[in-house]
Parts: sequence; structure tokens; C-alpha cells
Amino acid sequence: MDRSTFNQFRRIAYDRCGIALSEGKEALLCARLGKRMRALGIRDPRAYLRHLTSDRSGQEAVHFVDAISTNVTHFFREPEHFRFARDAFAKWLNEGQQRFRFWSAACSSGEEPYSLAMTLLEAMNGQTVDLKILATDISTRVLAQCRDGVYEKGKLKDVPAPLRERYFQPLGKGPEAAFRVDGAVKDLLVIKRLNLATPPFAMRGPLDIIFCRNVMIYFDTEARKRLLDEMHRLLKPGGCLMVGHAESLAGMMSDFKALKPSIYVKQEGERSLAEPTARRRWPPCHRVVRGEAESATANSQGVLQSPGAFPG
Ligand SMILES: C[S@@+](CC[C@H](N)C(=O)[O-])C[C@H]1O[C@@H](n2cnc3c(N)ncnc32)[C@H](O)[C@@H]1O
Repeated sequence: MDRSTFNQFRRIAYDRCGIALSEGKEALLCARLGKRMRALGIRDPRAYLRHLTSDRSGQEAVHFVDAISTNVTHFFREPEHFRFARDAFAKWLNEGQQRFRFWSAACSSGEEPYSLAMTLLEAMNGQTVDLKILATDISTRVLAQCRDGVYEKGKLKDVPAPLRERYFQPLGKGPEAAFRVDGAVKDLLVIKRLNLATPPFAMRGPLDIIFCRNVMIYFDTEARKRLLDEMHRLLKPGGCLMVGHAESLAGMMSDFKALKPSIYVKQEGERSLAEPTARRRWPPCHRVVRGEAESATANSQGVLQSPGAFPG
């Protein structure tokens, strides 16, 4: 792939999803786009670039984002976060809180929000509370897997045996049978497409805990700061943000208090703002179009659009 073509793809990746492809990654990009190009019968990256930029429907951009995003995840990844969420949830329950809203902000194929759902169901211990977990990602491909909630046996290796037995049903009888996540776990999830690079989001908050793990690593400083600002707005005072252990956010978390490495809290004394006040500070390409933000329902791709669509 020539340099100019690579730079144009880089620009699109950044504008569309905040992903900053670093210099010298032409071969990686070619490999990622290969499957999509083959599906279209296109051999030359320049021809694919023309196809992408001339598609007014926006559908090819969805395929492009699907192709370039890294979706690695697994159940109970970075388990400390789930233990922390369980303890915070139990404490808030004890204090009489009845309504809980969590957000898995780059949920990939669902392992993260389903791990959280199982953790919270266990902590509820049969109590009835108003609990929802918003699960969002930019990639339609992984969101479809998240909605299916079907996983090969090998993917369940990090799920503790009692949870595996309680919350998964085998599909078939053989040793290689896949497993489907139980309806009670699934029902806790609200699954939507959302681009983290384009805050403010059509959400009202307040949220109790946000998992935003292993995604900001692909963003540049500007995009990370905008996202952190927005997540701070959406959290309740005392609410927590979990980021990936490998993510370096040094110097960007001034609005949060660090509780532990990769766990941050919004200070108790701070107000949870009802409206996204930072909207006017951000460049135009990151604004939500008024008509979009005010539409009453999610669109056909399940894109989170309406203000207050979550929490419901
Ligand atoms: C490496 S996975 C992390 C999954 C999970 N959070 C975890 O830690 O296991 C990164 C996810 O971020 C998603 N992603 C990348 N850019 C995004 C964006 N601009 N908005 C929303 N999701 C994005 C990718 O599609 C991918 O599913």
C-alpha cells in the first residue's frame, strides 16, 4: 500500500472512530482490510479507498470500522475490576439504593458485560432491584455476537464452574458443543452501537460504574480527554470508572480520584450534570447532530440516539 493511500485510510479511521493508526502499519492495515476487499472482489487498496469514500450510504464505513478494530476480550478479564464492582454494588445495595445503571463502553463480543451481569446477579442473592447494563461498541460484527450470546466451550475457561453451570446452557450434546448465555443474564443488557470518539452521547446518566477498558489505548490524547470528560459527566458522584491495566492515562484523570491502579472515582462532592456542558468546546466533527440526538428511538442498527435512551 502506498503512503498516500495509507494516510487517507488513517484519516478516515481517526475521523470515524478515533482510532489512531500509527506510522508504518501499512502491512497490518492491508491484512485487516484483506477479507473485506476479497468479499467485494477488489484487489487494489486504492480501489477499495475509492469504494469507501464514494459510498454515500455509510454502510461501507461500517465494514471498514469492523475490519480495523481489535476485538480481543475474554470472560472475567482483569478480574480485580469485577471483584471491585461486586463490592461497590453490595455496599450501595446495603445503603438502600434500588436502581443501578452500569456501562460496558467497548463491550466487544459480550464477554465483559456478561461477566459483569453474572457478578451482579450473584451479589443480588435473589433480591429484586432495577438493574441494567448498557453494552456498547462501534463494531456491528461484535455486537451481533454479543446479542447472540453464544460462545464456544473454550471461551468459557475463565468462567468459574458454578457460574458456568448456573448461567450457560449447552447447545447440543458433544464435547465441542457451544454454550448459550442464560436469559436472566441477557435480560440485564441493553446492547447498542455507540462511537466513543464522538461525545457527547445521547445519555442522561447518572451511571454507577463504567467499564471502559482496552479501547482508549487506540485513541490519541485529544480523543481520550474528550471521552474522559464525558464519562465524568455521566457518572454519579461516588461512581467509578475502570480502565484497562495497560492504559496510560497519566495526567488526564484530574477530574477523578485514583482509588487503585486502573480504578477511578468521581469525587462525592461533585454534581452530576444533567446536560452535556462540554458540547460547545468540542470540534464540530464530534458533535451529535441535533436531529439524531433528539430522535425518540434507537435506529435500525441499534445506534444509541435518543437522550435518556439509557438509563431507561
Ligand atoms: C480490545 S477490545 C476491548 C474489549 C473489552 N472492553 C475488554 O477489555 O476485554 C476493544 C473494543 O473497542 C471497540 N472500539 C474501537 N474503537 C471504538 C470506538 N470509537 N467506539 C466504540 N468502540 C470502539 C472495538 O470494536 C473493540 O470491540
